Amino acid sequence: MSRRRWQAPVPLHSIDMAGQRSLSRRTVLEATLAAGGLALIDWAPVTARSAVLTPACHDEHGAVTLPVTEGPYYRPHSPLRGNFIDASSEGQRITLAGLVLSPVCRPVANALLDLWHADQNGEYDNSGFRYRGHLFSDADGHFEFHTIVPAVYPGRTRHFHLKIQPPGRPALTTQLFFPGEPRNQVDPLFRPELLMSIGNTRERMNAVFDFVVDA
Ligand SMILES: [Fe+2]
Repeated sequence: MSRRRWQAPVPLHSIDMAGQRSLSRRTVLEATLAAGGLALIDWAPVTARSAVLTPACHDEHGAVTLPVTEGPYYRPHSPLRGNFIDASSEGQRITLAGLVLSPVCRPVANALLDLWHADQNGEYDNSGFRYRGHLFSDADGHFEFHTIVPAVYPGRTRHFHLKIQPPGRPALTTQLFFPGEPRNQVDPLFRPELLMSIGNTRERMNAVFDFVVDA
């Protein structure tokens, strides 16, 4: 999976829905004046990004990632590892990667990310640490886990559990969800803001999610 690096945020007013830079009102006015036209300037609203499902991270008031309940299967003291795959692993391989960011879009280094999830049969390892582990974000806030796609189990849609703890700060407990899952419509814990972006290669699924935390 190609690794993304943190980039300084772009002001909202210069981005349109397709992520393309658009002309500001001042730019339009200056161009109009230069062309000799003044009387009829149509002040159409400047296009801005709206209805963004992932946390807004463009100003000093960016929303942090939503918390979701821990559930009954969390176990502390998981092993330090980002790769949960072993020779006996079954099921679709998936890479979960992303960034840990502050509300002003700064990368959060050394944030602890603890991931746990059900196996290919929808069961948790509650005596050992299969499909459980933690790692730390790097200097760019980047993290990456390699594991399998968890199966659904009664009452729940497909999901990952995570705790994200910036250095010296409380941990955020949340869950991530898969797009296109029928049970997303009926699981009361499902939140569209916590949908991962999913891409597929021949060998594996690639899931991306950026966390925004108080840091
Ligand atoms: Fe669960």
